[in-house]
Amino acid sequence: MQVGIIGTGYVGIVTGSCLSEMGHLVTCFDVDQKKIDIYSSGKSAIYEPGLEEILQKNIAAKRLSFTTNIENLIENSELIFLCVGTPPLSDGSADLSQVESAVRNIAEHTPAGSYKIIVEKSTVPVGTHKRLKTITKLYNKGKSKFDFVVNSEFLKEGSAVYDFLNPDRIVIGLETQKAREKMMELYQNFETQKVLVDPSSAEIIKYASNSFLALKISFINMVADLCEKAGGDIEKVADGIGFDKRIGRAFLNAGVGYGGSCFPKDVKAFINVLDESSVDSSMLKSTDQFNANRYKKIIETLEEELWILKNKDIAVWGLAFKAETDDIRESPSIKIVSDLLAKQVNIRLYDPKARENFEALFPAGKQISYFNNPMDALKNTEALIILTDWKEFSEIQPEKIYNQMKLPVIVDGRNIFKESTMKELGFRYFPIGKGEMLEYMRNSK
Ligand SMILES: NC(=O)c1ccc[n+]([C@@H]2O[C@H](COP(=O)([O-])OP(=O)(O)OC[C@H]3O[C@@H](n4cnc5c(N)ncnc54)[C@H](O)[C@@H]3O)[C@@H](O)[C@H]2O)c1
Repeated sequence: MQVGIIGTGYVGIVTGSCLSEMGHLVTCFDVDQKKIDIYSSGKSAIYEPGLEEILQKNIAAKRLSFTTNIENLIENSELIFLCVGTPPLSDGSADLSQVESAVRNIAEHTPAGSYKIIVEKSTVPVGTHKRLKTITKLYNKGKSKFDFVVNSEFLKEGSAVYDFLNPDRIVIGLETQKAREKMMELYQNFETQKVLVDPSSAEIIKYASNSFLALKISFINMVADLCEKAGGDIEKVADGIGFDKRIGRAFLNAGVGYGGSCFPKDVKAFINVLDESSVDSSMLKSTDQFNANRYKKIIETLEEELWILKNKDIAVWGLAFKAETDDIRESPSIKIVSDLLAKQVNIRLYDPKARENFEALFPAGKQISYFNNPMDALKNTEALIILTDWKEFSEIQPEKIYNQMKLPVIVDGRNIFKESTMKELGFRYFPIGKGEMLEYMRNSK
């Protein structure tokens, strides 16, 4: 099928590349000429495992192309996916100006007499499809026929290509038989469960899913705090809870709180949607508030151990909001580094992929240094903070870490090392959610 993608950010480029991998003819459009140039040359503008390979393969096979000419895209597409950003406004609601601008652009450039299906892939509040419908009709002056489909995306950065090609389910909100046939044809090679619903339900499903996952993370972080205070091991507690099939073990890893471009903004936007509909949103407000304060735990632990942080040399491993991505949007590292800066700490930073993005926010200077490998960042430091669970960190031998540091203090926001080993080696090791417990249980990981 002929598919158009509007917006080649994380979701757009993965959607476009994967649909071309499935044999569709895909044209991608973005207002950012720089991005289009990078993708046209077969390079990826983001780090995402497996992306560059399928990008190059499908460009070579002439199934995937890029343009800044909207007419070109419209001409080449039966289905047009909206993959533009929906960032938060200051009140937490979703800024829909990119969506409005994209759909207006489509409406104005669609030739009279043609039929197009506009597919919402961006995450938007319930009812947005109705707005899109009226704005399209207005700007197209009723010359063409449009159908609207809601097909929210559930991929996770870091495994986005895999997730897109192997989804747990595909949610499709639609209103017409024709749109249904086209969407079923588009996804015919996906053997997964397809959840066909009305557009409003589809819009609610996306926000509700992300809010539920965020709630699960905040819940396990609350239980982790109890483990630390009352005695207990959060990993074993999470196993005990999560192996119940009704609950599930996923998203029960305690840590420094959720970040990224989706959970924080989607929880806030869903609160806004609930409030506007006069539905009690207090449960989600607590989740949001709990998570907003979560990062403070790291600094508090450090101050408890080192007392005054001023002029101390502290390494931070991991700047991306999660492993296997270069995305730092809403990453806990941003708040933690800001706090360390305010406390006049000398900060030594390392991340395998996110350095460039982080450096744009926090340029190297008197207090901030960047390093090309984790061991150099550690040299002579008085503490190490671990904020992302990159595999390369857990593969480093703790003895080497010990020898490289001035003081063997680690605050591990991701629980990547075995506590008993670290203690045996002489570390002052502070993981998340590990309270006093019997020694033989500690060693049984
Ligand atoms: N990133 C994720 O993990 C993820 C997962 C699922 C859903 N989503 C949702 O998908 C949407 C896109 O997210 P993202 O992370 O890819 O955003 P992004 O900010 O990375 O990308 C948005 C892209 O749209 C382009 N753009 C903006 N206005 C445009 C316009 N009028 N016409 C054409 N292009 C335009 C921008 O230049 C940018 O390249 C959001 O609604 C987000 O909530 C994101």
